[in-house]
Amino acid sequence: MYMKHISAAFISLATIRSAYGVPQRRATCPGGHTVANAACCAWFPVLEDILPNLFDNECGDDAHAALRLSFHDAIGFSPSKGGGGADGSIITFSSTELNYPANNGLDDAVVTQSPFIKAHNVTAGDFIQFAAAVSLSLCPGAPKVGFMMGRPVAKAAAPGPDGLVPEPFDNVNVILARMADAGGFTPTDVVALLASHSVAGADNVDPTIPGTPFDSTPALFDTQVFIEVQLRGTKFPGSDPGQGEVMSAVAGEMRLQSDHLIARDTATSCAWQSFAGNQAGMQSAFAKAFNKMAILGHSASSLIDCSDVIPAAPPLPANAGPHLPAGQTQKNIEQACANSPFPTFTAQPGPATTVPAIPQ
Ligand code: HEM
Repeated sequence: MYMKHISAAFISLATIRSAYGVPQRRATCPGGHTVANAACCAWFPVLEDILPNLFDNECGDDAHAALRLSFHDAIGFSPSKGGGGADGSIITFSSTELNYPANNGLDDAVVTQSPFIKAHNVTAGDFIQFAAAVSLSLCPGAPKVGFMMGRPVAKAAAPGPDGLVPEPFDNVNVILARMADAGGFTPTDVVALLASHSVAGADNVDPTIPGTPFDSTPALFDTQVFIEVQLRGTKFPGSDPGQGEVMSAVAGEMRLQSDHLIARDTATSCAWQSFAGNQAGMQSAFAKAFNKMAILGHSASSLIDCSDVIPAAPPLPANAGPHLPAGQTQKNIEQACANSPFPTFTAQPGPATTVPAIPQ
């Protein structure tokens, strides 16, 4: 199947060359999609398979897990400690890496994704980043991120057991230093990457309440996480808070200590505040940092840009504007950025918001 698609694409590429007498870069794949590089045609069958069969066509638990997996695979890279970055080692060497405490809970995503990797005969490193980019296309409000193909099979597990993947109980300096070491991410890049926690929840921080979301809209890639984490925390969603958990402002919502501190640290609070209600700014900063993360451990020149295979996400619904959850007021915002006041939002009407768990 793979070879059939590739050869058909080359035929159509050749046709374009002969028709115009000069080399053309674009190719038409079987099915009619046009791509900048014929090798990218191989990813359309993968796309058509995973949208319904891996993700159920929704921005739900499997889409969230795919995004988290892309981070945990990629960030396993350090110029001094080793690791291959976004190389699929979290799957290829899953018997080692899934034992690292920070990778707790990723076994589900590894088990779910592995048969697709085999069926489509692609590398785990490529598949993990492809699946994450596609998962975002299911989350209304997400930016279109890129996808590069060509990551070879991982040679070794990322070094462990501790240190390369940030933990929610790490302090801000530790997290920023790790992210700078892994890929030169600036504090603003780190904040932008945390927009991912807009489509996220925790299964293992407090394992008695799996699927507890980090904001009130875990199926939308919006800026609510930047607003809601800035509210004064008053309650835990479960009876026995986990390590790296602090009080959240909204019933049913979990707040990670790392998100809480990054929203309030002098190095990051103004970047955090800048994304609250700023959908376009958040989208472009996230896409830029995500694209950098997705190729950690590789040089872009060794990969082929197949971004044209990734669909665009739907926009946010018209009624999904930035807001305070019902029951909150602007006074509950804990101002942290010293340069300017937090933007003003109105509260949704009705009784205080309680966020349901993400269906598992
Ligand atoms: C930089 C510091 C970060 C820390 C400390 C952190 C920590 C965590 C923790 C503790 C969870 C809950 C896991 C569980 O209990 O199931 C989580 C979930 C998640 N994280 Fe992060 N994270 C960070 C950055 C990122 C980045 C950069 C991304 C992606 C670009 C990401 C994407 C996600 C997603 C999508 C989930 C939800 C997974 C699911 O619902 O299955 N995180 N994160």
